[in-house]
Order: sequence, then structure tokens, then C-alpha cells
Amino acid sequence: MAKNRTIGIWMYQNGGGDIIEQKMVQKLKERGIDCITGLNLRNAISKNGSIICQDVNGKDIKMETLDLMFSYNAGEQTQYQTYLYQALNRIVPMINSYESFALTEDKFHTSFVLRNAGIATADYKLCHRDDAHQLKKIITKWDKMVYKPTDGWGGMGLTKIENEDTLDMLMPFLNQMDLRYFYVEKFITYDNSDFRVDIVDGEFVSCYGRKASGNDWRTNITAGGSVFMRDASEEIIDVAKRACEACGVDIGGVDIIYDEEKEEYVVLEVNGIPAFATPEQEGMGLKFNDRKIDLIVDLIDRKTK
Ligand SMILES: Nc1ncnc2c1ncn2[C@@H]1O[C@H](COP(=O)(O)OP(=O)(O)O)[C@@H](O)[C@H]1O
Ligand SMILES: [Mg+2]
Repeated sequence: MAKNRTIGIWMYQNGGGDIIEQKMVQKLKERGIDCITGLNLRNAISKNGSIICQDVNGKDIKMETLDLMFSYNAGEQTQYQTYLYQALNRIVPMINSYESFALTEDKFHTSFVLRNAGIATADYKLCHRDDAHQLKKIITKWDKMVYKPTDGWGGMGLTKIENEDTLDMLMPFLNQMDLRYFYVEKFITYDNSDFRVDIVDGEFVSCYGRKASGNDWRTNITAGGSVFMRDASEEIIDVAKRACEACGVDIGGVDIIYDEEKEEYVVLEVNGIPAFATPEQEGMGLKFNDRKIDLIVDLIDRKTK
């Protein structure tokens, strides 16, 4: 009999992630795929062509011998861990690939790639920190804009700039932060709600909505937003699929809003590690976890054949 395939997993454990992992491990086992879990590259060392990482039981694993590595933990990422992610992916297939992971971690790179793939995004401008006059120029044209750290998440650091005066007030703070560049987007007029569309392996998994709370214009849960049940039209699903394809992600959660001025759907970002529904959200009726697990298992099976 052929030897079992072996993959590595690093999966978030909070919010029901531990249960998802168990289900996935079980289903992979039925396909003849063994799983080694708890492989946080944060705790690994590399020497002489080897990356040695402790698994959940504290056992040393030679990462380069794995048939595939599934990395799915946004909350506990570290610079060292992503550095080894990059190295490991030169030798071992990974989900998501390091290249697509790194792309989706950066909002400017993502918008740049999406626009070149013909996918609508917010209009943006990136300039060197010494070219701040570019921001002055663009605010007169755009009326309102959003300053965004290119590597942020959860709506953090996003600053709405309403007019030239706000920009003048903000500039000293931005200059103090010793940034290499400025990235701003045109502020999109929308109804303060979005669509989060999950895609796995080019297939539609699920859609739900998020709504900003009170006067906030950000839909992020961490900014007080709330999840609600919402169906996606064929058009929205198509946009999400194309966005994932353009970014090269096997798994992606695409944030989409409706631009009321341009009357079109706009991709705000592609998340490379979109969370499964929490037990609480499942209780609300978000029942996509099993389908998502099955699609991921199919994908791992195919990629390790
Ligand atoms: N250009 C924009 N115009 C209007 N609202 C925006 C714009 N960009 C982001 N937002 C709002 O801010 C939220 C967070 O932005 P996003 O780019 O997804 O960053 P994060 O990674 O922090 O979630 C979005 O969900 C949306 O509600
Ligand atoms: Mg977002």
C-alpha cells in the first residue's frame, strides 16, 4: 500500500477554529492524508536546508518533508513566522501560497493588481512621503478621502479626510510616523454595509453582510460593526471569484461595497485568511462551515496528488 501523504496545519484555535481543525483533520484522514497540527513557524529554527518546527505535542517536525502546509492563523502572525512561511513555500506547496498571501496583506499591491485585472476598486493614489503635495492635489479633486495603512486590518488606522483643513491637521502626525509612503483612497459613498464573500478554489462558499454601527463608516466588527444575513447576486459572486483569481489565492474572503455614485460593486480588499463562522454566527444561520471544509479538503487532496 502507498504511504500516506502528510500535511502540516497551523490554524487559529479561538472562535471555534479548534473544532473546524478537528473536522478537517478527520476528513483528510479518510482520504489517506495525515495531519500534523500546531505548526507555528514562530517557534521554528532553520539550519542547513531544514526548517524544524515543534508540533502541538512538542515533537520536532522537519517542515521540508511535508507534502503541503496549510497556514490559517491571521491573529497570531509574526514577522519571523511570515519570513519562514516565505522560505518554506520555496520548497513545499502552501495554502495560500506565500506570494498570494503577501499580496493580499498589502492594500496597495492588491488594488494595483485588481485594477489591472479589470476589477473595480476604490480610486487610489500612492506617493512617496516627500511628495505629500500629491495629497493636496487629490483632495481637491476627490472631496473626501481615506488614509489607509497598507498593512492594516480591522479598520485600524483608517482615517477619513473630509477636506483640505483635515489634511493639513493630519500631515504633521503622518510626518512624525516616519512612513515611507502615503496611500489614500477616494471615499466611496455607500450605505455603510458590505458583502463578505468567501471563495475556495474558485468556488463560491458563502456571503454575509456587515453593517457599520451608529455614525461609523467602517463595517469592521472590531470597529463596532455587526454581521447580518445577506445573499449575493450572481454579479457579486462573479466579482469575488475574479478578485480571488487575480490575487492567486486558493482561499479568499472578498470585501465588496456598492458605490452609489459610480453605481457599481467595488472590491475593498481580499482577505487571505477569512474566518469560518463562529458558533455564535452559526446560531444566527450562517451555515457555510461544512461546505468550506469540504472544498478545502478537496483542494488539499488534489494539490498533494
Ligand atoms: N474607500 C473607502 N470609502 C468608504 N469606506 C471605506 C473605504 N475603504 C474602506 N472603507 C470602510 O472601512 C472598512 C475597512 O476598510 P478595509 O480596506 O477593508 O481595511 P481593513 O483591513 O482594516 O478591514 C471597510 O469595511 C469599509 O466599511
Ligand atoms: Mg476589511
